[in-house]
Amino acid sequence: MTLEGKVAIVTGSGRGLGLAYAKELARQGAAVVVNDIDAAVADAAATEITAAGGRAIAVAAPVGPTETAQRLVAAAAEEFGRLDILVTNAGVLRDTVLWKMSDDDFDTVIDVHLRGTFTCVREAASYMRANEIAGRIVCIGSPTGQRGNFGQTNYAAAKAGIVGMVRTWALELKRAGITANAVIPVAATAMTATVPYFAAAVEADEKGEPMPAFFRHDLGFGTADDVSGLIAFLSSDAAAGVTGQAIGIGGDRIQVWSHPEPALTAYREGGWNADALAAEFAPQLAENLQGVGESFPPLPDELQRPAQSPA
Ligand SMILES: NC(=O)c1ccc[n+]([C@@H]2O[C@H](COP(=O)([O-])OP(=O)(O)OC[C@H]3O[C@@H](n4cnc5c(N)ncnc54)[C@H](O)[C@@H]3O)[C@@H](O)[C@H]2O)c1
Repeated sequence: MTLEGKVAIVTGSGRGLGLAYAKELARQGAAVVVNDIDAAVADAAATEITAAGGRAIAVAAPVGPTETAQRLVAAAAEEFGRLDILVTNAGVLRDTVLWKMSDDDFDTVIDVHLRGTFTCVREAASYMRANEIAGRIVCIGSPTGQRGNFGQTNYAAAKAGIVGMVRTWALELKRAGITANAVIPVAATAMTATVPYFAAAVEADEKGEPMPAFFRHDLGFGTADDVSGLIAFLSSDAAAGVTGQAIGIGGDRIQVWSHPEPALTAYREGGWNADALAAEFAPQLAENLQGVGESFPPLPDELQRPAQSPA
């Protein structure tokens, strides 16, 4: 597998998962436009890639507005002559329960994740179509978008919306040979470092030690580098037939998420009024209620940390 001759943009790639993606794409031969809202980490990332023999430039700008999307695509075209790959990874959290979530908490998360993905993909896909490039769009979802999570109304909306857009783009971009997929990562980064349940795993990662098998295997929770191989694969010619998918990855685990399908179908001639629903449908519904949220197994004793509450 190689990405030699290809040009990529990775948003939010100054640190965390995005940095791992940018480094892996560069290691596989792609020239990379590193983007971050934080200019210092964006510059440091581009310098690190260049020092390792890769090709990279930094564009410090906030993902969300159309102007940033235009700047990123223009930078790829002007600096490296084309654009083949877009990874929309930039993200922020503003977690709190619904009744405490402000308009600003909601708008900030929607703006960076959902609007930022929309504006960047619109710009990149337009460029790829105009230049007849069979490009690769890789968008970043989350388990929260797939199943919901306590305290994450804004993030759940944004991440579920991203997977919904990916399904639509897979249809719209198929004729142009452009693929669009979502990756659902789970890894130790600044975003997960504060979750008490993952403390022992983050601690091991920070010490440079291997993560306990319980995290890597049972929970599918690993390092940022564990995710980057999937990003590179989906960005390559080898993944030409893969589009419209949501693929979960973390630690030793990879999973294909199903798209929502009807879990129960019932018919009644003349339709379903409230009485018929109560009498005929309710018993079937009771046996087919769908679960929400992610369920985590209890932490083994040796991985418990002081002052830790279960996730
Ligand atoms: N860490 C996980 O386990 C996990 C799980 C599911 C999804 N994700 C998603 O993966 C992506 C990366 O997460 P991470 O854990 O590496 O987080 P992180 O906080 O370590 O990194 C996010 C990066 O995005 C940058 N950023 C924030 N707002 C930006 C903006 N408007 N424009 C450009 N850059 C911006 C930040 O400065 C930071 O460098 C996010 O989309 C996140 O929602 C992460």
